[in-house]
Amino acid sequence: MRRVLDIRRGCAAFLALAAAFAVVAATPAQDHSRHSFDRAEKCALVLDDPARDAWQKPDEVIRALALAPDAAIADIGAGTGYFAVRLARAVPQGSVIGVDVEQDMVRYLAERAKREGLANLTTQLGAANDPRLPAPVDLVMLVDTYHHIPTRERYFVRLRDAFKPGGRLAIIDFHVDAPMGPPLRFRIPPERVKQELMRAGFELVQEHTFLPHQYFLVFRPAARS
Ligand SMILES: C[S@@+](CC[C@H](N)C(=O)[O-])C[C@H]1O[C@@H](n2cnc3c(N)ncnc32)[C@H](O)[C@@H]1O
Repeated sequence: MRRVLDIRRGCAAFLALAAAFAVVAATPAQDHSRHSFDRAEKCALVLDDPARDAWQKPDEVIRALALAPDAAIADIGAGTGYFAVRLARAVPQGSVIGVDVEQDMVRYLAERAKREGLANLTTQLGAANDPRLPAPVDLVMLVDTYHHIPTRERYFVRLRDAFKPGGRLAIIDFHVDAPMGPPLRFRIPPERVKQELMRAGFELVQEHTFLPHQYFLVFRPAARS
């Protein structure tokens, strides 16, 4: 029981099985950007629970992104690597950089990449307001992380410089009425994401609707006027 409670404190606002669970598990902090994910091994039990695949549909998500085998990808808020390791396998001649603000997640993901023989998966300790990407990429992906970014408009204005020509930004996050996910007050409806990113200089290019609990939006930097 104690172990279960610990996991809840660290990660449960993310993957609760019901809204009630999410409410019970919610951090008392008003600022969800400061939610704690600093116990990676415990978080992995939740984030990498195989039961997640049924609704997260990682293979479908990656197929929908139609990645070139040599694509360069940044997974911002990579956590324990649920998507980062799958992306690394999907781009054998490419590269994936898993960015996280939590040192323990970065440590865990680096160890996981080594353990799983993924030489094309590297890690980066990001700052809350800057992912500190070392080079431009073809795809930036944020899964269940958008709502953690504290000053989003400024963050994404700056992120526009992180793309190679033709680069894309993919955002997956929980619907307001999903039976799991962060506490309700931290959820951001897709229409707001679109407005925020439009103001930050992106345009929507695709909207996938096959995920049962999350929206999946794909943007590209708009031409600068
Ligand atoms: C809910 S978890 C999602 C992890 C992973 N994307 C997944 O789908 O399993 C959110 C992650 O974002 C990280 N995070 C929070 N704020 C961040 C920021 N400003 N920049 C990068 N990572 C951030 C947290 O430390 C955590 O690992």
